Amino acid sequence: MKLLRSVDELRAYSDAERAAGRRIALVPTMGALHAGHLSLVAEGHRHADTVVVTIFVNPTQFAPGEDFDAYPRGLEADLAQCRAAGVAAVFAPPPDEMYPDGPEGGKTWVAVEDITAPLCGASRPTFFRGVATVVTKLLVVARPDVAVFGEKDYQQLQVVKRLARDLLLGVEILGAPIHREEDGLAMSSRNVYLDAGMRAEALVLSRALDAAEAAVRHGERSRDALLERATKEIATASHAAIDYVELRDPESLEPVGGTLEGPALLALAVHFPQRVGADEVVRLIDNRVLRPGV
Ligand code: PAF
Repeated sequence: MKLLRSVDELRAYSDAERAAGRRIALVPTMGALHAGHLSLVAEGHRHADTVVVTIFVNPTQFAPGEDFDAYPRGLEADLAQCRAAGVAAVFAPPPDEMYPDGPEGGKTWVAVEDITAPLCGASRPTFFRGVATVVTKLLVVARPDVAVFGEKDYQQLQVVKRLARDLLLGVEILGAPIHREEDGLAMSSRNVYLDAGMRAEALVLSRALDAAEAAVRHGERSRDALLERATKEIATASHAAIDYVELRDPESLEPVGGTLEGPALLALAVHFPQRVGADEVVRLIDNRVLRPGV
């Protein structure tokens, strides 16, 4: 497995793979890899000959006061996991390779309109600009045939699909299903911040999704009733503080009407303290597309 540190190395590597007739799958990550990331790699293998993982904790998607400094990092362990998963190359650049003029020094940003406004964009107003910019840079340099993103970050996946289409990048953007721990908690590099008690409380996210899905299966179609069902479940965790609980159109991310008439995205973002009494909070997201009639 190759370890690529510079943009030039990534470009040369991808050019050579393409010239040899091999299809490339790119899997962008911020490292701290877990089984969820490895499922993205597996999806890459299904669609390409060469899987390239990028590991870069992207400063421009963190607002001041967020967890950029604390974000878990462990390159050696990440490389070992990539090697075992059959990854051909890892691109792990230092920050000045991606931002030669410093994180805020560049004059060009990729801003995707409309679908970045609600949900995570409402509470993290600069987040998607940072994501869209770094992902565009990675796609432009590597020019993969496909790129794989997790459906846990559902809105991010829609944003990346939109920018790839609008900027004519000629890459197919694939979503991979949410990977869950056995007890239902969606895998996230941020789960390690939670102590055992808060981790147990965090199970209310997947329970809220299960409850709403069960209600739909039993015929519930009222948006408000479904939101109330999910909200009540989250409220059973005494330290949970809701950022949002919303039902949105899965494609446009527009709010759904009062009655579900087709698939609807139930999206959740909830804060928990890292442990009882801690000032540091962990923001977890989860989602499920509810399908009336299935
Ligand atoms: O989902 C992530 O890990 C990041 O947002 C991404 C897509 C790698 C961009 O930094």
